[in-house]
Formats: sequence, C-alpha cells, structure tokens
Amino acid sequence: MPVYILHNINYTISNNMSIRNIGIMTSGGDSPGMNAAIRAVVRTGMHMGLDVYGIRRGYQGMIEGDIFKMKTTDVANIIQRGGTILKTARSKEFMTDAGMQMAYDQLQQHGIQGLVLIGGDGTFTGATRFFEKFTVPAVGLPGTIDKDLTGTDFTIGFDTAVNTAVEAIDKIRDTAEAHDRLFVVEVMGRDAGYIALNSGIACGAEDILIPETATDINEVLCRIDHDERRKKTVHILVVAEGDDFGGAVKVMEVIKEHFPHIDARHCVLGHIQRGGSPTYADRVLASRLGHAAVNALVNGTTQVMAGIVNDQVTFTPFQNVIKGSTPISADMLDMIRVLAS
Ligand code: F6P
Repeated sequence: MPVYILHNINYTISNNMSIRNIGIMTSGGDSPGMNAAIRAVVRTGMHMGLDVYGIRRGYQGMIEGDIFKMKTTDVANIIQRGGTILKTARSKEFMTDAGMQMAYDQLQQHGIQGLVLIGGDGTFTGATRFFEKFTVPAVGLPGTIDKDLTGTDFTIGFDTAVNTAVEAIDKIRDTAEAHDRLFVVEVMGRDAGYIALNSGIACGAEDILIPETATDINEVLCRIDHDERRKKTVHILVVAEGDDFGGAVKVMEVIKEHFPHIDARHCVLGHIQRGGSPTYADRVLASRLGHAAVNALVNGTTQVMAGIVNDQVTFTPFQNVIKGSTPISADMLDMIRVLAS
C-alpha cells in the first residue's frame, strides 16, 4: 500500500508562520475521539500563537458561516467525551458549485487561512472537489469508526467502536448460553468489515460475514448444521452491515427457513457503536494526529490526511485516502474457522 508524503501540493508558505488563523471542523458520521482531536488541534494551534476558529456542523456550517473563535477553555474536559462539541453533518449543498462558493466566501470573510478537517470518506471526497476549485491549505484527520481509509493503520473511533461491539456481543453470548440460542449480530462499518472481523474474533464468534469476502450462505448453513450435530448449542454469527449477502435480518430469514426448530434471534447493534467515551488508544491517536496536523499545516504540508502507519505519523494526499482499505489476509480468515471449530 503506497503512502505518499507530499509537501506544498497546492500551496506554498514562504515562512512557517504565514498562517495565523486556522479553522477546524468535524464532518460526516461522528466517532469517539473526535473531541480529543479537536482539543489537540486547538491547544497546539494556540501554543503556536494561532487563532483557531471552530466551524460547527461540518461543511454545512462552513456554508452558513457558523464559525466562532475558540478559547482554550472550549476544549477543557472534553478528551473523554464521545460525539463532537463542534457537531457534525452530511451536507448535500456543499457538493454543489454554489455551496462550495459560499463556503469559500465564508472562510475568506473570517480570515481563515488553513483548515483541519476531521472525518471519513465523505469528508475527504468533499475536500478533494473543493480544493480542485479553491486554494486553501488543509490537513485532514481520519475520524470514522469504519477504518475504511488508505494511509492509516487506524482511524479515530475504530478502537472504541470495536470495544463497544465486543462488550455488547459478550452480553449477547451470556443470554444465548442461558437459552441455548443462535444469535445473528449485525455491526456497523458501511462497506467495510473491520468492526465485524475484529469484534467477531475478540468474542469468539462461530462465524463472521464481511463485505471483503463473498458470503456463501450454504457454507454458513453447513456450519450451523455441523454445530447442531455435535451439540454445540450456542452459535454467534457476526455480520457486517455491508455484507454482500445482506444484514442480520436477511441472514436470519434464511436460517429460520432452513432450521425452523432452532431457537434463534437477531440483534442490530446500530448507533451505540458510534457513542461513548473513547478508549485510551483513540484518545492517544487523536492527540498525536491533531498535534501533527497543525504542525504540518504551518510548515506547508497541505492537502493531505495525517495518519498512523507502523506507529509513525504519515501524510497521504486526500485523493489517495478515499475509499481505500487494508486488505484482509487469507490467514486471518483461515484462523477464524480454526478458532471457532
Ligand atoms: O461511517 C460511519 C457510519 O456509522 C457507518 O458505519 C454507518 O453505515 C453510517 O455511518 C450510518 O450513518 P447514519 O448515522 O447517517 O445513519
């Protein structure tokens, strides 16, 4: 997987304090650790003598000029909080020429000379289009529970979301065990299966269905049949919401059709995976990347996302991070089958 370290792609800063005002926003689905990232950006910016402007509700707030000068106290006591104090949105208007023009005009009016964008795939898709038209230095931070971006081993929020899913699935296993039940648990991840894969392994799931591999439903049914024959009464199947066969409801329909006598239930974990206090790993990741992003911005590294690769901060151009993902190794998939047997 190539990681590019680029400098001054669209914009060159002649001395490293040409930027005096920066804007920060969170966009797309929130993820635990976004607040820790905001705190790191605001505190680092202020330490460097910059004015930091908060942009509420992502690109939509940028269009509407929902922008305010931040104080260091605005980010006090937030490192441990889920959600985002800047709020977030998915803006359709920003995808129009008129919307982008309004957003740019607002940045100009507020004197914002550089941006820190925290979000996922949609955020960087928007950024790429915007920066094709307008020159504004910007550095992105990967804020998404899905971990579906190239250029970083982890995204802010992923670790917390997986831990939330693990806690929930462990609880489901308790009740499944008590009733000798089969459970199909659906986790988030959009088109990516990392939450399913990691929570499934961590919970000892009997089966894990992910979008990265084609689901053969007959194999799934065979494994249930096999477990039944050897009197393994509890069967936990973790399915990613984006699996090619379908989510928990679809999988459950087929199971009920083939095994009407099996006591089975399904559970869609949903948005609880996006909330909650970030884990230490997400807080540290967010802090490191937020600090690095501001340093990069004032030193002229722009139009890139800051990520973590082999525990080193790296910078990848926005257009290269979109819809990337680390391939799931065949070894990992083989291991799941062995451990669940
Ligand atoms: O991208 C984060 C994510 O939580 C995905 O896992 C999920 O598919 C999607 O957002 C849900 O979006 P919304 O909150 O708009 O329903």
